[in-house]
Amino acid sequence: MKEALEIGYRHFDTAFAYGNHKEIAKGIKGFDRKSLFITTKLAIGLGQIDDRKIEKSVEAACDLALKELNLEYLDLLLIHYPDRNRPLEQILEAMHALVNKGKIRYPGVSNYTKHHLQDAYDAGLSVPFNQVEFHPYLYQKDLLEFARKNGTELIAFRSFGKGELIHKEPLFAEIAKAHGKTPAQVVLRWVIQKKIPVIPKASSKKHLLENFSLFDFVLTPSEEEKIDMLNKNFRYCESDWNEFDY
Ligand SMILES: NC(=O)c1ccc[n+]([C@@H]2O[C@H](COP(=O)([O-])OP(=O)(O)OC[C@H]3O[C@@H](n4cnc5c(N)ncnc54)[C@H](OP(=O)(O)O)[C@@H]3O)[C@@H](O)[C@H]2O)c1
Repeated sequence: MKEALEIGYRHFDTAFAYGNHKEIAKGIKGFDRKSLFITTKLAIGLGQIDDRKIEKSVEAACDLALKELNLEYLDLLLIHYPDRNRPLEQILEAMHALVNKGKIRYPGVSNYTKHHLQDAYDAGLSVPFNQVEFHPYLYQKDLLEFARKNGTELIAFRSFGKGELIHKEPLFAEIAKAHGKTPAQVVLRWVIQKKIPVIPKASSKKHLLENFSLFDFVLTPSEEEKIDMLNKNFRYCESDWNEFDY
């Protein structure tokens, strides 16, 4: 994290499920808080939220995250996965209440489809962010347009397909060669040219440097379009309990 901060990274994404809040706290210790953007996610599937005491248990989960991360406020708190057997709208409403208390800057969701978002809008709730899997094999164009129209910005995760996708497609290597860049940089550039923040994971300084060096080249409209066409609605991030078909 220290290397990432030195390079210029400011947005750090974590979750209760990752079990690394305390390590993040160590990594950012002493750093100017206002320049950071720290996201964590509620583990509603892991019994963290009591459906009979939603407001209280959402606030308790937030307080625990703040304690573990050693922060006064979170920039973004997300519902990690939707589960329609749970009172999602009430949980989101309780997260909105944390904004007024100064404990979070934004509430949000993750892995939501258009229909999950619509349910929240129907309940009169705004959803500033939806963090979703997003890459050339899963170009969620419909979701992106629908979300934007309704005031929700996407955040892209698993954009390298866990490292697999970038080596799979000859087109990335071809475009990379034309710009003196790497396939990983081409994929990240494709995401950010859609004005979507992206959170690649990297564990070496080499990868951290490479993934940050994106602002000295631009994909042409035709390159962007060719990458758009690779979409296969393919997910690297699947689980038995997802609701992607909703
Ligand atoms: N909301 C959700 O449900 C959800 C789900 C999954 C992930 N996420 C978030 O998204 C983040 C990223 O997702 P992810 O880790 O699943 O997948 P990812 O970012 O698509 O891929 C990470 C893999 O790519 C490799 N890599 C990084 N930079 C590279 C480069 N320049 N060239 C070649 N390979 C490179 C990494 O290797 P090294 O480690 O060796 O650098 C690692 O193996 C996670 O850390 C998490 O914060 C959220």
